[in-house]
Amino acid sequence: MSSFWSAWIIVLTLPVLIGCAVLLKWNLTNHVGVPEDQNTGHEVDGIEEINNPLPRWWTYMFVLTLVWSVFYLAAYPGLGNWQGFLGWTSSNQGIKSLEESRLAIEEGRAQGKLVELDRELAHADEVYGPVFQQFAKRDVLDLAYDDDAFKIGQRLFLQNCALCHGSDARGQNGFPNLTDNDWLYGGTPDKIKETLLFGRKAAMPAWIDALGEQGVKEMTAYVLSLSGRSVNDRDAEAGKAKFALCAACHGADGKGSLAHNLPFGAPNLTDNTWLYGGGSASAVEETLRNGRYGQMPAFKHTLGEDKVHILTAYVYRLAHPEQPAAQ
Ligand code: HEC
Ligand code: HEC
Repeated sequence: MSSFWSAWIIVLTLPVLIGCAVLLKWNLTNHVGVPEDQNTGHEVDGIEEINNPLPRWWTYMFVLTLVWSVFYLAAYPGLGNWQGFLGWTSSNQGIKSLEESRLAIEEGRAQGKLVELDRELAHADEVYGPVFQQFAKRDVLDLAYDDDAFKIGQRLFLQNCALCHGSDARGQNGFPNLTDNDWLYGGTPDKIKETLLFGRKAAMPAWIDALGEQGVKEMTAYVLSLSGRSVNDRDAEAGKAKFALCAACHGADGKGSLAHNLPFGAPNLTDNTWLYGGGSASAVEETLRNGRYGQMPAFKHTLGEDKVHILTAYVYRLAHPEQPAAQ
């Protein structure tokens, strides 16, 4: 937190606490000039005003709350950048990557801390397992348009996939949009399921050594021209001359591995759908200079085949929102 916001929080919090204490003190002092429980002498329509003291229990609660607030603010983080004298940290602080969180979970298991969680998960499997099994027996094309299965798929997606692909599955930089029916590895039920079960590892090599700076610039021009962008023609021609380097994976026409029944997951470069950086010249240059290694994790063991089947149907429907008419 910047020191401005830190100061802002402190300025908002401390005077309020002090103000509450002052207010209480003021209310405990007799300003009326009449002893407690005595008539103040005011009377309206026969109703008399008595100088009632604050109820004792209420006063104690108020004082306790104030003492607790002061202790809490001193002991725990929260007051601006103050970290608290107890040195307490939230259990998810400092976890930077998926790999680290996975390790943290494993460590928690090893220390027996996750017994409760594991028991709950096992219980959930017992309850939902049979439901999932029933779904898993059905054909993906049929299951995709079952609204109950779709809702379960959505929940599984939010828990397991949204972190990378976004909660709306539209992807983000480096993580493909799953709703556009434009695929790296194939959008048939079998191919989607294969992706989910076994994961995918893309390997787009770095070309800076082979092409040099000038070559990268020229190749970028050619790549952008493939999707109809206006580029320097001379650069694009020079890039085109070297595109044989790329054809093994992207196809000689640049339409990507899928168009040529190849398994590499090399994207179609002609369709103006981009995995990295929205197809800006600098993103393409960076791809060519340093390579790209997108990884889709395997879910066969973490989720099991039944859940993967339900997710396959879910992903299929995202890309085909309308159920095809029965033949
Ligand atoms: C750690 C991030 C991550 C998580 C979690 C993740 N994915 Fe992916 N996924 C990727 C990446 C990266 C790719 C693209 C791989 C590549 O670059 O070739 C991908 C690719 C895919 C593809 C292939 C798309 C295509 O065009 O062929 C599908 C389908 C998919 N993911 C579905 C899922 C589902 C369903 C889940 C949840 C069970 C999930 N992903 C969880 C990162 C992730
Ligand atoms: C060994 C196979 C292979 C070769 C050879 C290859 N690529 Fe790729 N390329 C890929 C893969 C796989 C990806 C996807 C990377 C990812 O998903 O992380 C990719 C991604 C790209 C992208 C990013 C597309 C996007 O949507 O952001 C561009 C641009 C690209 N390649 C251009 C080229 C050019 C130009 C060449 C030749 C100099 C080339 N590639 C050679 C496999 C290859």
